[in-house]
Amino acid sequence: MSARIDDLLARMTWDEKIGQLQIVFRPNPDDAAALVRRGVGSTFWPPSAAATNALQRVAVEETRLGIPLLIGLDVIHGQRTIAPIPLSQAATFDPDLVRELAHLAATEARSGGVTWTFSPMADVSRDPRWGRVSEGFGEDPWLTSLLVAAMVRGYQGDDLSSPDAIVATAKHFVGYGAGEGGRDYNSADLSERALRTVHLPPFEAAVRAGAASVMAAFTSVSGIPMHAHRRLLTDVLKREWGFDGVVVGDAEGVANLVPHGVAENLADAVRQAYAAGLDIEMGGSPLGLADDELARLDPGRVDDAVRRVLRVKEALGLFENPYVDPDAEITTPDAASRALVRAAATRGSVLLHNDGTLPLVAPRRVLLTGPYATSTDHLGAWVQFFGARAGSVADELSDRRPDLEIAVEEGVDFLSPDDGGIAAAVRAAAAADVAVVLAGEPSALSGEAASRSDLRLPGRQEALIRAVAATGTPTVVMLVTGRPLVVADWIDEVAATVVVWHGGTEAPAAIIDLLLGDAEPSGRLPMSFPRSVGQIPIPYAHENTGRPASTGGTLTAEHVDVGLHGPGNVQDKYTSKYLDLPLGPQFSFGHGSGYARFAHGVPEVSASAFPAEGALDETVLTVTVEVTNTSDRRGDEVVQVYLRDVVASVTQPVRRLVGFARRTLDAGHSATVPIALPREAFALWADGWRVEPGAFDLHVGSTLAATRLVRVEAR
Ligand code: IFM
Repeated sequence: MSARIDDLLARMTWDEKIGQLQIVFRPNPDDAAALVRRGVGSTFWPPSAAATNALQRVAVEETRLGIPLLIGLDVIHGQRTIAPIPLSQAATFDPDLVRELAHLAATEARSGGVTWTFSPMADVSRDPRWGRVSEGFGEDPWLTSLLVAAMVRGYQGDDLSSPDAIVATAKHFVGYGAGEGGRDYNSADLSERALRTVHLPPFEAAVRAGAASVMAAFTSVSGIPMHAHRRLLTDVLKREWGFDGVVVGDAEGVANLVPHGVAENLADAVRQAYAAGLDIEMGGSPLGLADDELARLDPGRVDDAVRRVLRVKEALGLFENPYVDPDAEITTPDAASRALVRAAATRGSVLLHNDGTLPLVAPRRVLLTGPYATSTDHLGAWVQFFGARAGSVADELSDRRPDLEIAVEEGVDFLSPDDGGIAAAVRAAAAADVAVVLAGEPSALSGEAASRSDLRLPGRQEALIRAVAATGTPTVVMLVTGRPLVVADWIDEVAATVVVWHGGTEAPAAIIDLLLGDAEPSGRLPMSFPRSVGQIPIPYAHENTGRPASTGGTLTAEHVDVGLHGPGNVQDKYTSKYLDLPLGPQFSFGHGSGYARFAHGVPEVSASAFPAEGALDETVLTVTVEVTNTSDRRGDEVVQVYLRDVVASVTQPVRRLVGFARRTLDAGHSATVPIALPREAFALWADGWRVEPGAFDLHVGSTLAATRLVRVEAR
């Protein structure tokens, strides 16, 4: 309870209250000032400290009650210093680093007067066709939850009124990542179990970490668009979890209730949204409505929403200090910020395979080919606001290694069907000691409204890779991408492939670090790479079915001859698989290695049995494993612990991640790595979380494929 908020609420007119319940979506500066004069409580993106101060001055000095503004912006992976995309940050398996990157973004944003970011994206994404997978933390609910909480803490710190803190928004609540077919904005039909076990946990983690804002999703969930979903917005988020911050709509998400087909018109949409639990509408609706339409809003609900908005403004310290110091505005990345995002880019890069060609040892003649040899499009989605720039790999390598003979032949464009340049790239490859193909997707192919139905490299890039590799010159591929890609048609023809994602401001430097061995690629995949689009969705944590397959499918004449009712002599016919694809994805969640090599000892557990009943957050056992760097280089290992509930009352995933630990070890060094498991790691959801007595298999190792088994029991 705040006396200031009680006092304001008592004095506010209806229009002043309604004004607080709206953020104006990307206005031009003149419109913004006029709307603030009319009482709008929040606005988007004035581009500088001077501009945000000017708008705050209008709110504070030219409105009756002088209530300061919330100023929001999509600071998704950096404001001035652009960090790698969140999917790359997820690949670091490093919550401390994710938190540090968010803190850097918050510091830069707040110095310019921005107080509210629309990040982190807490949607679990299991369909790489969806362009927004780049903005999230991948397919695993538990890893996503950890990293979402870390990002919230990085943005908000301990005190929102500090000059290095901004309000975090967990978005898009909920089910946006589950849109059918990976098509953006699409509907999702989600059971309570799917919501509770996959989609809700990262949002609950954000709320527990103190997120002061949550954004409603564009999606409809089982027939109810989220902007009108009272049960999820109010009953679950606000009542069950005790969320006392603001629920903001997505851009025009309230108006979208009309085409969704659940509201007759805008007035009906606004009424439904606020009744469901929305607090701030993003767009232009409420102020655009006539008084009698607004009068249909429930006054108690309006007061509750206004109270929430004012509470956030108060926590930010805006009533005492609405302005920022223009002289302290951070407008360019400093050396420390650049070093941080560069290290993050290598830490999140995933070495998919390597025959020993990487790192390049004493290279002399190097070919750089592919569209990303010279492209500067490394930043990824959502960075258009402040003119951030990256350089190119070709420029970076020539600056750093003038001693090398560097040939640059892009060969092909990103998207064009023209492969006329491949011949020149092939000639240059034949004359080089090593060919580096810098291939990928331009940033515009990921992010919002960027779903794809074909996940192979666009344009003629695959033809380029195959032609260059066919010269016999060792060929490595550096994949610059915002999503998992289908790489099946060329991956076996090249010596090594590293996924470097959209790596941010320092991406070219990081790519050269990786090529020359100045840094290790030490990420692990946060999302599986499918063999083909036809396999999607293919999460590693799938259930077993009653007919699990033991061998991959290979379509043969026998399959045709035997027919459905044949003698059943085709091995493994009646099992769950595709006839024409090997089992599993091309590269699974958790896959990746560095240049250093590690050996794991036999895992041990501190207890082989524990009580099923008890507090969910209590540690019930610790898994310990000895890890040794067996190579001659310093490197990082990520020890991963997966769990399988052997027999349960409801079907369970074949494996799910329950713990991990990252360690940096010098050549020849060993470390004992303990990973504590709380009771909740063993819990299943069936009308609530509980641990069922019985056996659990823990799979401990460096990837999902390379694990050792320990069985424990809950009694
Ligand atoms: O924050 C975003 C959201 O993720 C998608 N629609 C627009 C919003 C504001 O820019």
